[in-house]
Amino acid sequence: MTNRGRFITFEGMDGSGKTTQMRRLAERLRGMGRTVIETVEPGGPPIAMKIRRILLDAANQELSPVTEVLLYFASRAQNVDEWIAPALGRGEIVLSDRFTDSSLVYQGFGRGLGAETVAALEAIACRGIKPDLTLLVDIDAEASLARARARNVAEPHCETRMDDQSIEFHRRVYEAYHALAAREPDRVKIVNGRTGIDAIEREVWSIVAHYV
Ligand code: TYD
Repeated sequence: MTNRGRFITFEGMDGSGKTTQMRRLAERLRGMGRTVIETVEPGGPPIAMKIRRILLDAANQELSPVTEVLLYFASRAQNVDEWIAPALGRGEIVLSDRFTDSSLVYQGFGRGLGAETVAALEAIACRGIKPDLTLLVDIDAEASLARARARNVAEPHCETRMDDQSIEFHRRVYEAYHALAAREPDRVKIVNGRTGIDAIEREVWSIVAHYV
Protein backbone atom coordinates (compact mmCIF):
# COMPACT_ATOMS: atom_id res chain seq x y z
CA MET A 1 0.00 0.00 0.00
CA THR A 2 1.47 3.36 -0.93
CA ASN A 3 1.52 5.87 1.85
CA ARG A 4 1.46 9.13 -0.04
CA GLY A 5 -0.12 11.29 2.65
CA ARG A 6 1.14 11.97 6.14
CA PHE A 7 0.01 9.99 9.17
CA ILE A 8 0.52 11.76 12.49
CA THR A 9 -0.63 10.29 15.80
CA PHE A 10 -1.03 11.75 19.28
CA GLU A 11 -0.30 9.56 22.26
CA GLY A 12 -0.20 10.11 25.99
CA MET A 13 -1.78 9.24 29.28
CA ASP A 14 -5.47 9.93 29.87
CA GLY A 15 -5.97 13.64 30.56
CA SER A 16 -2.69 14.63 28.87
CA GLY A 17 -4.46 17.21 26.71
CA LYS A 18 -3.56 15.54 23.42
CA THR A 19 -7.12 15.83 22.08
CA THR A 20 -7.03 19.65 22.36
CA GLN A 21 -3.62 19.72 20.71
CA MET A 22 -4.74 17.54 17.84
CA ARG A 23 -7.74 19.80 17.20
CA ARG A 24 -5.50 22.88 17.14
CA LEU A 25 -3.05 21.22 14.77
CA ALA A 26 -5.89 20.23 12.43
CA GLU A 27 -7.14 23.83 12.36
CA ARG A 28 -3.67 25.17 11.65
CA LEU A 29 -3.08 22.72 8.80
CA ARG A 30 -6.50 23.45 7.29
CA GLY A 31 -5.71 27.16 7.53
CA MET A 32 -2.67 26.41 5.38
CA GLY A 33 -4.92 24.81 2.78
CA ARG A 34 -4.17 21.16 3.64
CA THR A 35 -6.83 18.46 3.64
CA VAL A 36 -6.94 16.87 7.09
CA ILE A 37 -8.85 13.85 8.38
CA GLU A 38 -9.21 13.61 12.18
CA THR A 39 -9.90 10.30 13.84
CA VAL A 40 -9.85 8.87 17.36
CA GLU A 41 -9.15 5.42 18.75
CA PRO A 42 -10.95 3.45 19.81
CA GLY A 43 -13.40 4.84 17.26
CA GLY A 44 -13.48 6.75 14.02
CA PRO A 45 -16.07 5.39 11.57
CA PRO A 46 -19.54 4.51 12.97
CA ILE A 47 -18.85 0.74 13.31
CA ALA A 48 -15.64 1.47 15.23
CA MET A 49 -17.56 3.91 17.47
CA LYS A 50 -19.91 1.06 18.39
CA ILE A 51 -16.88 -1.03 19.40
CA ARG A 52 -15.64 1.97 21.42
CA ARG A 53 -18.82 1.93 23.48
CA ILE A 54 -18.17 -1.66 24.56
CA LEU A 55 -14.52 -0.92 25.38
CA LEU A 56 -15.00 2.16 27.52
CA ASP A 57 -18.30 1.33 29.24
CA ALA A 58 -17.59 1.22 32.97
CA ALA A 59 -20.28 -1.47 33.27
CA ASN A 60 -18.11 -3.97 31.36
CA GLN A 61 -15.86 -4.92 34.27
CA GLU A 62 -15.68 -8.59 33.16
CA LEU A 63 -14.09 -7.75 29.78
CA SER A 64 -11.12 -10.13 29.59
CA PRO A 65 -7.68 -8.81 28.55
CA VAL A 66 -7.67 -10.87 25.34
CA THR A 67 -11.17 -9.73 24.35
CA GLU A 68 -10.10 -6.18 25.13
CA VAL A 69 -7.03 -6.24 22.87
CA LEU A 70 -8.97 -7.91 20.06
CA LEU A 71 -11.68 -5.24 20.25
CA TYR A 72 -9.13 -2.39 20.18
CA PHE A 73 -7.67 -3.96 17.04
CA ALA A 74 -11.11 -4.64 15.56
CA SER A 75 -11.89 -0.93 15.94
CA ARG A 76 -8.47 -0.09 14.42
CA ALA A 77 -8.91 -2.43 11.43
CA GLN A 78 -12.22 -0.72 10.59
CA ASN A 79 -10.63 2.72 10.99
CA VAL A 80 -7.68 1.74 8.75
CA ASP A 81 -9.85 0.23 6.03
CA GLU A 82 -12.62 2.81 6.00
CA TRP A 83 -10.86 6.09 6.78
CA ILE A 84 -7.07 6.02 7.24
CA ALA A 85 -5.78 4.01 4.27
CA PRO A 86 -8.07 5.72 1.72
CA ALA A 87 -7.15 9.21 3.00
CA LEU A 88 -3.42 8.46 2.89
CA GLY A 89 -3.90 7.06 -0.59
CA ARG A 90 -5.44 10.39 -1.62
CA GLY A 91 -2.37 12.19 -0.27
CA GLU A 92 -4.18 13.74 2.71
CA ILE A 93 -2.96 14.32 6.24
CA VAL A 94 -4.46 11.93 8.80
CA LEU A 95 -4.36 12.87 12.48
CA SER A 96 -5.26 10.17 14.97
CA ASP A 97 -5.90 10.59 18.69
CA ARG A 98 -4.16 7.31 19.68
CA PHE A 99 -3.21 4.34 17.45
CA THR A 100 -1.30 1.04 17.79
CA ASP A 101 1.16 2.50 20.33
CA SER A 102 -1.76 2.75 22.78
CA SER A 103 -2.38 -0.99 22.45
CA LEU A 104 1.32 -1.64 22.98
CA VAL A 105 1.50 0.35 26.21
CA TYR A 106 -1.99 -0.30 27.68
CA GLN A 107 -2.56 -3.94 26.64
CA GLY A 108 1.01 -5.11 25.91
CA PHE A 109 2.52 -3.66 29.08
CA GLY A 110 -0.35 -2.38 31.27
CA ARG A 111 -2.21 -5.69 31.02
CA GLY A 112 0.97 -7.73 30.50
CA LEU A 113 -0.10 -9.37 27.21
CA GLY A 114 3.34 -8.69 25.74
CA ALA A 115 4.70 -6.80 22.76
CA GLU A 116 4.64 -9.90 20.51
CA THR A 117 0.88 -10.29 20.80
CA VAL A 118 0.38 -6.65 19.90
CA ALA A 119 2.80 -6.94 16.95
CA ALA A 120 0.97 -10.02 15.64
CA LEU A 121 -2.40 -8.24 15.75
CA GLU A 122 -0.90 -5.11 14.19
CA ALA A 123 0.29 -7.22 11.24
CA ILE A 124 -3.31 -8.38 10.68
CA ALA A 125 -5.17 -5.13 11.35
CA CYS A 126 -3.01 -2.30 10.07
CA ARG A 127 -1.93 -3.51 6.62
CA GLY A 128 1.54 -2.00 7.02
CA ILE A 129 0.27 1.43 8.05
CA LYS A 130 2.45 3.02 10.70
CA PRO A 131 2.56 6.63 11.82
CA ASP A 132 5.15 8.87 10.15
CA LEU A 133 5.29 10.89 13.36
CA THR A 134 3.97 10.35 16.87
CA LEU A 135 3.66 13.15 19.44
CA LEU A 136 3.77 11.83 22.98
CA VAL A 137 2.16 14.49 25.18
CA ASP A 138 3.87 13.71 28.44
CA ILE A 139 2.34 13.86 31.90
CA ASP A 140 3.01 11.40 34.70
CA ALA A 141 0.65 8.73 35.99
CA GLU A 142 -0.41 10.70 39.09
CA ALA A 143 -1.29 13.85 37.11
CA SER A 144 -3.07 11.68 34.56
CA LEU A 145 -5.33 9.97 37.05
CA ALA A 146 -6.05 13.22 38.89
CA ARG A 147 -7.05 14.99 35.65
CA ALA A 148 -9.10 12.06 34.35
CA ARG A 149 -11.01 11.69 37.61
CA ALA A 150 -11.61 15.45 37.90
CA ARG A 151 -12.98 15.40 34.34
CA ASN A 152 -15.25 12.47 35.15
CA VAL A 153 -16.66 14.34 38.14
CA ALA A 154 -17.13 17.59 36.18
CA GLU A 155 -18.75 15.80 33.22
CA PRO A 156 -20.21 12.52 34.50
CA HIS A 157 -20.29 9.86 31.79
CA CYS A 158 -19.92 6.10 31.55
CA GLU A 159 -16.70 5.92 29.45
CA THR A 160 -14.51 5.46 32.50
CA ARG A 161 -13.54 1.77 32.40
CA MET A 162 -9.87 2.54 31.66
CA ASP A 163 -9.66 5.54 34.04
CA ASP A 164 -10.86 3.18 36.78
CA GLN A 165 -7.67 1.07 36.57
CA SER A 166 -5.16 1.20 39.44
CA ILE A 167 -2.28 3.66 39.76
CA GLU A 168 0.13 0.71 39.24
CA PHE A 169 -1.50 0.04 35.85
CA HIS A 170 -1.10 3.70 34.85
CA ARG A 171 2.54 3.70 36.02
CA ARG A 172 3.28 0.70 33.76
CA VAL A 173 1.68 2.58 30.87
CA TYR A 174 3.83 5.63 31.60
CA GLU A 175 7.04 3.56 31.71
CA ALA A 176 6.10 1.80 28.48
CA TYR A 177 5.52 5.11 26.66
CA HIS A 178 8.97 6.31 27.69
CA ALA A 179 10.61 3.04 26.68
CA LEU A 180 8.92 3.34 23.28
CA ALA A 181 10.15 6.92 22.80
CA ALA A 182 13.68 5.81 23.71
CA ARG A 183 13.48 2.92 21.23
CA GLU A 184 12.09 4.96 18.31
CA PRO A 185 13.39 8.51 18.77
CA ASP A 186 13.05 9.40 15.08
CA ARG A 187 9.32 8.73 15.08
CA VAL A 188 8.18 9.31 18.66
CA LYS A 189 8.74 12.85 19.95
CA ILE A 190 8.07 13.73 23.57
CA VAL A 191 6.24 17.01 24.21
CA ASN A 192 6.06 18.32 27.77
CA GLY A 193 2.37 18.21 28.72
CA ARG A 194 2.65 20.55 31.71
CA THR A 195 3.65 23.84 30.08
CA GLY A 196 0.16 25.11 29.20
CA ILE A 197 -2.05 24.73 26.13
CA ASP A 198 -0.43 27.50 24.03
CA ALA A 199 3.14 26.50 24.87
CA ILE A 200 2.39 22.88 24.04
CA GLU A 201 0.85 23.97 20.74
CA ARG A 202 4.03 25.87 19.84
CA GLU A 203 6.19 22.86 20.71
CA VAL A 204 3.96 20.55 18.65
CA TRP A 205 4.16 22.87 15.66
CA SER A 206 7.97 23.19 15.92
CA ILE A 207 8.08 19.41 15.43
CA VAL A 208 5.26 18.89 12.91
CA ALA A 209 6.39 21.71 10.60
CA HIS A 210 9.27 19.48 9.41
CA TYR A 211 6.93 16.64 8.48
CA VAL A 212 4.13 18.21 6.44
P1 TYD B 1 -10.68 8.17 25.94
O1 TYD B 1 -11.85 8.56 26.76
O2 TYD B 1 -10.73 8.41 24.48
O3 TYD B 1 -9.41 8.80 26.63
P2 TYD B 1 -8.30 9.78 26.10
O4 TYD B 1 -8.99 11.09 25.82
O5 TYD B 1 -7.34 9.85 27.23
O6 TYD B 1 -7.70 9.13 24.87
O7 TYD B 1 -10.38 6.64 26.22
C1 TYD B 1 -9.51 5.89 25.53
C2 TYD B 1 -9.00 4.86 26.52
O8 TYD B 1 -8.71 3.63 25.85
C3 TYD B 1 -7.73 5.31 27.20
O9 TYD B 1 -7.80 4.99 28.56
C4 TYD B 1 -6.67 4.45 26.56
C5 TYD B 1 -7.40 3.22 26.16
N1 TYD B 1 -6.83 2.52 24.98
C6 TYD B 1 -6.22 1.29 25.15
O10 TYD B 1 -6.14 0.77 26.28
N2 TYD B 1 -5.73 0.64 24.04
C7 TYD B 1 -5.83 1.16 22.79
O11 TYD B 1 -5.37 0.54 21.80
C8 TYD B 1 -6.46 2.44 22.64
C9 TYD B 1 -6.59 3.06 21.28
C10 TYD B 1 -6.95 3.09 23.76
